[in-house]
Amino acid sequence: MEKIVFATGNAGKMKEIKEIMCDLKVPVLSMKEAGLELEIEENGSTFEENAVIKAKAVAAAAKSIDQGIVVLADDSGLEVDYLNKEPGVYSARYMGEDTSYRIKNQSLIDRLDGVPDEKRTARFVCAIAAVMPDGDVVTTRGVIEGKIGYEERGTNGFGYDPIFYLPDMSRSTAELMPEEKNNISHRGNALQAMKEELKKRRV
Ligand code: IMP
Repeated sequence: MEKIVFATGNAGKMKEIKEIMCDLKVPVLSMKEAGLELEIEENGSTFEENAVIKAKAVAAAAKSIDQGIVVLADDSGLEVDYLNKEPGVYSARYMGEDTSYRIKNQSLIDRLDGVPDEKRTARFVCAIAAVMPDGDVVTTRGVIEGKIGYEERGTNGFGYDPIFYLPDMSRSTAELMPEEKNNISHRGNALQAMKEELKKRRV
């Protein structure tokens, strides 16, 4: 493995993956840093499918640049058990891509109106896919379990963090410091698992 390209345009995700992967001692580049620009349609029905779609599209484009590249991509979202795991793979698109999270979060709170604590279970899920230099595809999954709160709390994080309550910590994920969240998050867990896969395969 000569380098890793992570298929995202999100600077926050890039920072996190560079930190977690640093002991592999291989350069980790964003698509932009690798000179790749492409729009990818996420039309899979699971987090894993979407991550694989993204990683394969970028791997196909990257092949002409370098043969030794491992391409990673992720897909993540929130599953609310009471809502049959909605918004799931539609988390970013829920109520429209341009709708603010204040409105999306309030909508989920409203849809759980009157639902007791024990039925408010939810989880953030993250799937990471890797396309290896030989074309092999590997996926890992990380989850963090919590409950949908009754109001927005905290200003850190992004997206659904203000309504994702961690009973053990008595805080929402928007009330955690970034390092605290990375240590226990779905994305952190999936990335750690992927790092172990890459080490094992010595690609
Ligand atoms: P994507 O994986 O970049 O497509 O993001 C999916 C969507 O899931 C995000 O836009 C958020 O709505 C939601 N999401 C994923 N991870 C988190 C998280 O850690 N906190 C809050 N929302 C998240």
